Amino acid sequence: MSKKVLVLGGAGFIGMNIIKELGSRGDYQISIGDNFFRGKMDEQLTKLVEDYNIKVISADFTEASAFNELENDYDYVYMLASVVGVEYTQKVPNELIRINTALILNTLEWVKTTKCKKVLFTSTSECYAGTIEAFDYQVPTPEEVPLCIDDITHPRFTYAVTKMLGESGFMQYSKVYGFECTIVRYHNVYGPRMGFKHVIPQVVQRFLKNEDPFKVYGFDQTRAFNYIDDAVAGTIGAMESKDTNGEILHIGDMESEITIEQLIHYMGGLIGYKGTYERQGAHSGSVSRRCPDTSKAEKMIGYSPNVHWEEGVKKTVEWYVNYIQSGSEVFE
Ligand SMILES: NC(=O)c1ccc[n+]([C@@H]2O[C@H](COP(=O)([O-])OP(=O)(O)OC[C@H]3O[C@@H](n4cnc5c(N)ncnc54)[C@H](O)[C@@H]3O)[C@@H](O)[C@H]2O)c1
Repeated sequence: MSKKVLVLGGAGFIGMNIIKELGSRGDYQISIGDNFFRGKMDEQLTKLVEDYNIKVISADFTEASAFNELENDYDYVYMLASVVGVEYTQKVPNELIRINTALILNTLEWVKTTKCKKVLFTSTSECYAGTIEAFDYQVPTPEEVPLCIDDITHPRFTYAVTKMLGESGFMQYSKVYGFECTIVRYHNVYGPRMGFKHVIPQVVQRFLKNEDPFKVYGFDQTRAFNYIDDAVAGTIGAMESKDTNGEILHIGDMESEITIEQLIHYMGGLIGYKGTYERQGAHSGSVSRRCPDTSKAEKMIGYSPNVHWEEGVKKTVEWYVNYIQSGSEVFE
């Protein structure tokens, strides 16, 4: 029998790719809920909605009444709706706290009244970035890492604080109200159509403007980049595996840990940049090294990323160069 799926935040980067994958597999009745704050009803999403007969609930889910528009018996609820991005933490930390907290609490208060079977909450490696900096915790980092905020007064950490609330909230409500729950912590997911607030599209834009010398901020910091198709496979695997109830899984790519300098030089080569590079210090509050230990996900759900970072970055850079050069609108 086909499964009923709800993706909150389904118009966004990861959400749209989840519905694309579920739609292509068939046998799902898919609904998405989004207020299109960031996700866009662009050509690609419109086509998916038509091809897979997806129901779109366009509403602001910080309003509890928005949940009245949903059904009450989804097999799987993917909770991705959130304000994401360092820029918002700096500009409107108060709004980020209000929106993310309301989205989490409203979802929990709604799920507890429904017959939904399983919920997956999407968290982030930012929740433990402080532990690595302050306590020199092991990298690659496993799920049992204590979560920690480096400096509670710094606006950058508002996002991580709301994700910690979500992790605790989903775990505790699921036990008290008897629905299944899994948490995934993403690590630098990237790919085409991820908006323009991530490092790769921003660097593409700067190369196309021919910045020279090209400043490489945080050149020696490392990140493990996780291509969108692998992240989606891990997310759906985490949701659909029978063993993941009550579990937290790190989804990322531990084979793809590279320095920011490696990434930027590789991208410069792809774009044919002929200028010079200049090393610069890192932006404040950003962690020096980040890489997940994904062996739990590998053991539990057979998660194994397939896309090497060079291949994924190439596809992403090509998509952004074409997008920008076609004169299409830069979106958030
Ligand atoms: N992309 C990453 O590398 C990454 C890393 C860690 C965690 N995550 C988490 O994964 C999830 C998805 O991330 P993404 O990169 O696809 O982000 P995204 O911004 O593209 O998607 C989030 C979606 O939520 C929607 N939304 C925001 N406020 C809403 C509201 N009030 N009501 C309804 N919808 C609302 C947005 O319009 C957007 O479509 C987020 O929860 C994010 O925190 C992502």
